Order: sequence, then structure tokens, then C-alpha cells
Amino acid sequence: MFKKLKSRIKEVGRNIVYEGINQYYINTQHHTPVNNSSTLPNKIIQFEKTYDANEGIYHWKENFIGLEYDNCSMELEAAKVWSAWVKLIKPKIVVETGTYVGYSTSIIAAAIEEIGYEGIIYTIDPWNIPHLWEDTNLARFINFINLPSDKALHQIKDLNIDLLVCDSLHSYQNTMWEIANYEPLLEEGGYIFMHDTVLFDGVGAVVETLIKSRRFEVITADTARKCGVTIARKILSGEKLPIDEEKNKWPENLHNDYLRDFLRKDGG
Ligand SMILES: C[S@@+](CC[C@H](N)C(=O)[O-])C[C@H]1O[C@@H](n2cnc3c(N)ncnc32)[C@H](O)[C@@H]1O
Repeated sequence: MFKKLKSRIKEVGRNIVYEGINQYYINTQHHTPVNNSSTLPNKIIQFEKTYDANEGIYHWKENFIGLEYDNCSMELEAAKVWSAWVKLIKPKIVVETGTYVGYSTSIIAAAIEEIGYEGIIYTIDPWNIPHLWEDTNLARFINFINLPSDKALHQIKDLNIDLLVCDSLHSYQNTMWEIANYEPLLEEGGYIFMHDTVLFDGVGAVVETLIKSRRFEVITADTARKCGVTIARKILSGEKLPIDEEKNKWPENLHNDYLRDFLRKDGG
């Protein structure tokens, strides 16, 4: 009898505590609704619909540069990761090298618009072709700099970059130059997005440099076209990243799984 009473008291007590906790959560949760309406312009939705996930290629026949297919724009799955990451990190100043038709640029701009804050993307490319964002609501977030990345440096040198996106010429020489010279403008805690890090040895070797500097957290994943995608977070400022003169001689089209091998041997 006494035992039963004791256990009943315990149960009631537990319920009161649970009720209290529930009430606490209900009272303290501030429901800030995310703007769930997709802000991707129709042009980009149509572009995405042409994506073949097996090949990692867009069969975009209506494109404005006369190609049968597009295997330059980053794969859709990787773009969605970048989009979600942008919504997490809310970068105010984004600098991108390698615009092409502006798919990655548009995805980042749409993420900025979707969560509703003022961010700006400077996107750099010597090739001036029509861009997906043109005549859309995303254009106000984008500042196109029609120059190669080395010539564009003087236009961005006073920026405090929150997110640096590197996807231009995939030689070691160009990619390492970009990272070595743009990275000092990146805020501590800022991010670098890179594409083609697994496919192109030169780009992979740049990722190796980031890892070895111990100033970055770095993570890499394979993608549908086997290009690979990498996200790095700058933990610490430090000396300018070193440029390897021997690797500067590498041609752009070296495809020997350089980064994959490095990650296997050294464990990243
Ligand atoms: C792979 S595409 C970029 C794709 C784009 N990031 C996307 O996923 O939607 C590479 C682009 O880099 C550009 N490029 C080549 N050399 C460059 C340089 N030195 N500086 C900036 N862009 C360059 C090319 O003109 C091309 O448009």
C-alpha cells in the first residue's frame, strides 16, 4: 500500500516536471518562419529540370551559347548543398571566380534572397555570355566583373569577404594564385567553396595546401560527374599560402586522382 502510494507520488511528480519543461519550451520558442517560397526564377527552374542525375549533366537545349549539353555548371546536388550552406552562414560579401552562365551565382543569390538579408556577390569571369540571373529578381544581388581573376583583384582588394567561391580555370597555377591572393581578404570564420577538386589534380593540390596549412577545416565529397566539391572554413589568419613553382608547370588537364590519393595516404 505504502509502496503503491510512493510510486504514484513519483509519477505525479514526474508529470509535473515534464509539463513544466513542455511549458518552458512553448513559452521560449520564437517561431521565426523561414520564407519557404522558392525564389528561384522560372528560367533557373527550367534549367534545373534538364539535369540528368546519373551523368551530372544539364541537357539544356534552350541555352544561349549553342551547346547540346552543359557539363560546366556545377552539379545540381552540390548546388543544393551550397544553397543550404549559404542559408546557414549568411555571408554578406561573396566573391566568386568562374561565373560561366551563372548557375552557381544564381543559386547563392537565391539563397540570400530566400532568407531575406542584404548580401552581395561579386562574380568574376573574362567570358561575358548571357547569364541566368539576367532579367530576374536575383540581379540586384549580383555584381559581374568581366575580367580574369588576377586583373579583378584591384576591384575587390578592399572587401572583407565572408564566402569565397573558386571555380574558374582549373590549373594549379590559376587556382593556387586565386586562393593565395584572395584568401587574405577572407574573414576568420569565413568559408571557401571549391568545385572540381577531385577531377582536376591542380585544384586538388590547392585543397591539399589548405589542409596542410592547418588554418582551415576542410571537407570534400564526390559529385555526380566525379568532379568533386570542397568546403573549407578559415579558422585562423596567417601567412600567405605557399605557391609550389613545380606544380605551376602542371597542365590544366591532369586527372590522376591527386586529392583522392592525398586523402587516402594522409588521412586528410
Ligand atoms: C567551370 S566554369 C564555372 C561554372 C560555374 N561556377 C557554375 O557552376 O555555374 C569555369 C569558368 O571560369 C572562367 N575562367 C577561366 N579563366 C578564368 C580566370 N582567370 N578568372 C576567372 N574566371 C575564369 C571560364 O570563362 C568559365 O566561364
